[in-house]
Amino acid sequence: MTNSSTNISPPKSLTLLGSTGSIGQNTLNLVRDSPEKFEVIALTGNKNVKLLIEQAREFLPKLVVVADAALYSELKRGLSGADIQVGCGLAALNDAAELNSDIVIAGIVGIAGLTPTLTAIKQGGIVALANKECLVCAGQLFIDEIVKSGATLIPVDSEHNAIFQVFDFEKANSVESLTLTASGGPFLNMSLSEMAAATPMQAKSHPNWKMGAKISVDSATMMNKGLELIEAYYLFPVEEEQINIVIHPQSVIHSLVNYKDGSVLAQLGTPDMRTPISYALAWPERMETNTSKLDLAKVGNLSFQTPDHRRFPAINISRNCLKGGAVPPIILNAANEIAVDAFLKNRIRFLDIVRIVEEVLAKIHFGNLNSIEDIYSCDIEAREKSLEILSGL
Ligand SMILES: NC(=O)c1ccc[n+]([C@@H]2O[C@H](COP(=O)([O-])OP(=O)(O)OC[C@H]3O[C@@H](n4cnc5c(N)ncnc54)[C@H](OP(=O)(O)O)[C@@H]3O)[C@@H](O)[C@H]2O)c1
Repeated sequence: MTNSSTNISPPKSLTLLGSTGSIGQNTLNLVRDSPEKFEVIALTGNKNVKLLIEQAREFLPKLVVVADAALYSELKRGLSGADIQVGCGLAALNDAAELNSDIVIAGIVGIAGLTPTLTAIKQGGIVALANKECLVCAGQLFIDEIVKSGATLIPVDSEHNAIFQVFDFEKANSVESLTLTASGGPFLNMSLSEMAAATPMQAKSHPNWKMGAKISVDSATMMNKGLELIEAYYLFPVEEEQINIVIHPQSVIHSLVNYKDGSVLAQLGTPDMRTPISYALAWPERMETNTSKLDLAKVGNLSFQTPDHRRFPAINISRNCLKGGAVPPIILNAANEIAVDAFLKNRIRFLDIVRIVEEVLAKIHFGNLNSIEDIYSCDIEAREKSLEILSGL
């Protein structure tokens, strides 16, 4: 929509769910660089109330929410005198998601993002989805709600954003397969015995991307690629066996669509989340960003290899979960969230993460899922089993 007399587009209003995280901060960096294009109307965080206050004082949204209710008074105090509404807890997160904004950025980590993201989808606007865990746990429910509300879901995860950019949705039958690229993470070339001794600090040190702690550890186990496999299944009209994974350590090709005529279309760029986020913010247009631009001659070589499933079993575990229907991915995600958290707190060793996930998957047998409540019940049961296994270690 443009103002015909001046040809200047009005600013797009944004709600940022998870503004204090890596996705949230990258989004605000883009807004800071193009203040005429965007108006931030809501910000949410969980523990990092200090940063949330700073962000609110800079971007002056209508509403600021801290999920952790214990931090409400600190937030309120920090924003006293500012004309900003302040809230806490899940109901207030939903209030933020319900605001009439042009784009909601779903950047909360884990299943904690499920309800607010679903609330955003129900409003029927544009949702820029970074939170992959909610599609893993409730993929079909999401798709049903999108059809019902008419919402537009734009993937922000770099691989899915790449596929979104080159997938011919009008001729989906001409697609043979998708290829998700994976950097291989920080332990790509480590032996199993080296991985057994890996520390949280090493696991968080991704060679190409600067991301939050949980997704960084997921990249180290390659559970991230397993979750992305499930995410891709729900985002694009393909079957599980049409989704392939290839290791590409340089993270230059962000993913590819293989067409039946032999053509392969890919999206390339430097590994910088501001590119896929900006794509979602500007869609259906594109915007200029301050990202460093790709210089292929400087990159020199692009390499590819097959994942080593012996050292990185998480990909095949995830694939089997996807084949098993809607329940196993919920268990996979819950057990993984608990195990990653325990690893980050130095309670278990690196290789225990996937071992615990496998054990929980073998022990939980949940019935049919008919509602969001069933999804949460399954998630809670899997979390309890994971904690029980952890306490016995
Ligand atoms: N980072 C990336 O480059 C990247 C790339 C692709 C996909 N993703 C996906 O994007 C999502 C966010 O990743 P991230 O790396 O940005 O994570 P992050 O840096 O850990 O940030 C997570 C955000 O969620 C908030 N949060 C945490 N627990 C919450 C809860 N219980 N209720 C409400 N809010 C909560 C955090 O608040 P506080 O910080 O205030 O505690 C923070 O704002 C993940 O699903 C990830 O897989 C991320």
